[in-house]
Amino acid sequence: REGVSLVPPPPAPCFADPAFPSQDGFVRVDRDYVRQAAELARAGGCKHFVLQSSRGANAQSRFLYLRVKGEVENLVQAVGFDHCTILRPAVLLCKRQESRPMEWIAQQFFGAVAWVFPTANSVPVETVARAMVACVLQPGEKKVKLLENRAIHELGKAVRQQGT
Ligand SMILES: NC(=O)c1ccc[n+]([C@@H]2O[C@H](COP(=O)([O-])OP(=O)(O)OC[C@H]3O[C@@H](n4cnc5c(N)ncnc54)[C@H](OP(=O)(O)O)[C@@H]3O)[C@@H](O)[C@H]2O)c1
Repeated sequence: REGVSLVPPPPAPCFADPAFPSQDGFVRVDRDYVRQAAELARAGGCKHFVLQSSRGANAQSRFLYLRVKGEVENLVQAVGFDHCTILRPAVLLCKRQESRPMEWIAQQFFGAVAWVFPTANSVPVETVARAMVACVLQPGEKKVKLLENRAIHELGKAVRQQGT
């Protein structure tokens, strides 16, 4: 689809990761660069922007991570795309090449919980990607669409059943 931009996920300091550089770096990468990318995309004719945010994103939150995620959601919406889709996944289940012990532990825990409550606290990254593709292929009527974790699961699953 012409003019559609799938934004690769920006970084996530979800867990106490010793490799994570600084708060300034996080804000720059997760908010400022994303806003700039959105503006450039819009200037280039992009009509539909898909943003990977996070569960709990809230510009009023007292937690830096959730606040920055809420702020970037607002900034991207304000850019004025015909369609803006925001995904708010819970814990991402994925294989990392790099070592992140805390995240690994969390993934093991939430991966086990997912056997019983598959949509409650986590989502495989493949499902997120499928949901993003589905949003792009069928943007619907709404200017801004917010997808929480369960909706991401449903959309991602529907696309898989269609063999996409
Ligand atoms: N992980 C989760 O469970 C989770 C849950 C909900 C939402 N999300 C969101 O999903 C997206 C992807 O998450 P993720 O955990 O996969 O991201 P990530 O791997 O932590 O980061 C993605 C990229 O951002 C770069 N980066 C991170 N911090 C940086 C900094 N301060 N300065 C410069 N570059 C920096 C990383 O570079 P390097 O490779 O050089 O480190 C990496 O290439 C994020 O927007 C996150 O907020 C994640």
